Amino acid sequence: MPDSRPPETPRVELSVVLPTYKEQGNVAELVRRLGAALDGIAWEAIFVDDNSPDGTWETAKAIAARDPRVRCLRRVGRRGLAGACIEGILSSAAPYVAVMDADLQHDETVLSKMLDQLREGTCDLVAATRYTEGGSADSFGKTRGALSRLATTITRKLLDVPLSDPMSGFFMLRRDKFDAIAPRLSPAGFKILLDIAATAGPSLRVAEQSYTFGKREAGESKFNIQIGLEFLGLIFAKLTGDLVEPRFILFALVGAIGFIVNLAALKIALMAGVQPFDTAFAIATFISLCSNFFLNNELTYRDKRLKGLSQLTGFLVFCLFGSIGLLSGVGVAHWIQSSNDGLWVAGAAGAVMGVLWNYAMSSLFVWRTR
Ligand code: GDD
Ligand code: MN
Repeated sequence: MPDSRPPETPRVELSVVLPTYKEQGNVAELVRRLGAALDGIAWEAIFVDDNSPDGTWETAKAIAARDPRVRCLRRVGRRGLAGACIEGILSSAAPYVAVMDADLQHDETVLSKMLDQLREGTCDLVAATRYTEGGSADSFGKTRGALSRLATTITRKLLDVPLSDPMSGFFMLRRDKFDAIAPRLSPAGFKILLDIAATAGPSLRVAEQSYTFGKREAGESKFNIQIGLEFLGLIFAKLTGDLVEPRFILFALVGAIGFIVNLAALKIALMAGVQPFDTAFAIATFISLCSNFFLNNELTYRDKRLKGLSQLTGFLVFCLFGSIGLLSGVGVAHWIQSSNDGLWVAGAAGAVMGVLWNYAMSSLFVWRTR
């Protein structure tokens, strides 16, 4: 009788999760470098590709077809670095999991040192850092380097996380610790490490490993303004103890812009002689609904972005609920003003009421996040 019991030691000790979007030119070289750096360790690479149009997942799967150490998860219909990392880690059965960029900017030769720290059992997570003795982020250009330092300073001041480089996308942790907090993590943005540390709190024992951030040779960075905004959203969410979701911060920001657009359009319409006032107000409202819909579709709900015909129907539903929100906001403002609390209180209450309503309706019926 052949022995069908599974072996005692884990088949894989370390899963390396590699999020990719348009990294076709880096995949093969990365696998080669991991092989050299992790010699003697039972490791696997998990590429998590968001259906890149450049053939990244095809290349990764072609390697996986021959190399049992490599897997590739192709995600369709969604985008986002943090979400890709979360799903990659969740697919692992190894005791330790690392996350690193797939563009060769993260130094794979420090992985084995990070693993040694975890094996010792004195910490639960090792963050690779550019901002301690022995680390460097010089390969960032001037602007991006300054942005990164600014974000680091703000984060360290506002949130109580034991990380010198909270924006790092390079870290390793015990999988059981991750599994415990996974449902509370946000899939938006680049800030997966910060989210893990802030969500887990002081019970997560953190250590650091310095490294030098390399230069990108093939492909290009996917960092953009939206990712910066999502980062601000995450900070607010954590500051309010997760009472406010990051998405709501963006929604409220877009709403504030819409308010200014509304006032400006109203002023222009009145100056252009549009009469009566209600007509000018309706035109201004329509313009601000357009700009709000556009900005929310591009920023707040980018991961659920509507295209083609569904953009038109989405816009109509957005206008329907948006006007109800506006009217009820105005109603609340009138009511409070008449009960004599002054204009500011009335205006603020109306705005809060309107934005909460619109957010709930947009999430339920327009972009359907739940
Ligand atoms: N699956 C998936 N989906 N992967 C993505 C996505 C996405 O939407 N966006 C980016 N990636 C992958 C890239 O293909 C790359 O492997 C890695 O995530 C990092 O993306 P880059 O676009 O190269 O980021 P960067 O070099 O500008 O930013 C680096 O520094 C930041 C801190 O300042 C990264 O290390 C970030 O993780 C880090 O936060
Ligand atoms: Mn990069």
